[in-house]
Amino acid sequence: MKKIIITIDGPAASGKGRIAKYIAKKFNLLHIDSGLLYRKVAKLLIDYKVDLNNTNQIKKILIKTKKLSLRNDNKLRNEQIGKVTSIVAKMNLIRDYVNKQQIMHTTQKTEKKGFVIDGRDIGSIVFKNADLKLFIEVKPSVRAKRRHKQLIDLGEKSIYAKILKEIKLRDKQDIARSNSPLVIPKGAYIIDNSGLFNNSLKKINQLIGQI
Ligand code: C5P
Repeated sequence: MKKIIITIDGPAASGKGRIAKYIAKKFNLLHIDSGLLYRKVAKLLIDYKVDLNNTNQIKKILIKTKKLSLRNDNKLRNEQIGKVTSIVAKMNLIRDYVNKQQIMHTTQKTEKKGFVIDGRDIGSIVFKNADLKLFIEVKPSVRAKRRHKQLIDLGEKSIYAKILKEIKLRDKQDIARSNSPLVIPKGAYIIDNSGLFNNSLKKINQLIGQI
């Protein structure tokens, strides 16, 4: 039977991950967090002390790393790895690698009914023919408040004003980059996730019911 594919795109801290986890559990889908895969590549390059200008060195590491696991690791969600991740996420070589990783995970045998993948370019580039595409929108100030709380809960130091500045900068980088910029994918439904989470879920459940 054909597996369903749902894509979720949106800016940093818009709640994509939480929505993806909810959908995965409720509809028995495998969750692929593409941002986590980019963070894993960044960590790998940091650990191997790779010079980010040295394409050959990067290639060697990627060839050696056949498969990235989908397992979450909260240690990858700090701002330092976030910064390196947004640099490496601009590189063609790394985007191709992470895109292939996502496709590889969706072609493996699974008992699940399909996949829900979240990121910045999932509905626009990686899975253009998805069964349902969602784009999550939330005002930067609301996202900064949420990210700030998330970091404090993880035991990290955080200053709201700094987080807001970083979120605006990250948006600018994600939207302005020439390679796979953050866009509303063709055919995507826009979900305003600034208010109550349950309201977003109601709308999403309706849309999934129509697949
Ligand atoms: O979503 P998250 O904050 O974990 O993403 C980490 C970084 O990876 C972000 O800086 C974002 O620019 C990048 N990313 C990307 N394309 C994706 C997912 C994430 O460029 N599909």
